[in-house]
Amino acid sequence: MILEVQEISKNYGSQQAVKNVSFAIAPGEIVGFLGPNGAGKSTTLKMITGCVPLDKGAVKINGIDLWEDALKAKSLMGFLPEDNPLYGEMYISEYLEYVAGLYAMDHIKENVTEVIRQTGLQAETAKKIEQLSKGYRQRVGLAQAIIHQPKLLVLDEPTAGLDPNQTTEINALLLSLGRNKGILFSSHTLSEVATICTRILFIHRGEIVADLSRNEIGDLESLFKELTVN
Ligand SMILES: Nc1ncnc2c1ncn2[C@@H]1O[C@H](COP(=O)(O)OP(=O)(O)O)[C@@H](O)[C@H]1O
Ligand SMILES: [Mg+2]
Repeated sequence: MILEVQEISKNYGSQQAVKNVSFAIAPGEIVGFLGPNGAGKSTTLKMITGCVPLDKGAVKINGIDLWEDALKAKSLMGFLPEDNPLYGEMYISEYLEYVAGLYAMDHIKENVTEVIRQTGLQAETAKKIEQLSKGYRQRVGLAQAIIHQPKLLVLDEPTAGLDPNQTTEINALLLSLGRNKGILFSSHTLSEVATICTRILFIHRGEIVADLSRNEIGDLESLFKELTVN
């Protein structure tokens, strides 16, 4: 398994944001992490990527415990956080070279050129990040998440705030990347998740309430409606 999440929980004060969440992801799976706002998606993804400590439970990346060998586990995954923090003053390649340096990668220039090609950023390289449209900034966020060729890619609402064309392009990119990786990406919109994923995990009030393969999505539609009206 590329990712094993074992009974993880997180409290904020008296509020239990994530309750005993467990699941696993195999290579090649593109898993949509679906749930209404406030369900606990971002908190779960931050715990999986080591950005927020766990109150309880364990996370393993390719069998490596995230808190026992954080450096090794983190080198195997890429993360695009919800707010996609970037350095606006930097040029795209300058920023990506900086990220590649953090991973102590070899052949940095070649790898940056390749990831710029993969994410379709070639035409924008003369611009600073702050001059890019939201869709292109998301691509830069995706580029920094995949530059070290991680086995697991974790994306928090990668298409939030994008127009339908940009969403289609990002989704196509994820599909092309997903062949030999595990991908876990969150969304609060069912239609968006349903177009590219092989499996859907549904979280509601901090708990996993459904884990469905693609051909069971019909059931999910009614479940999603039911849960989001409550
Ligand atoms: N840093 C924090 N401090 C206090 N409460 C938080 C914090 N982050 C998230 N929460 C709360 O935890 C719950 C889950 O939030 P979140 O994981 O961001 O949900 P989602 O990403 O599904 O919208 C929400 O009720 C949210 O208000
Ligand atoms: Mg969120």
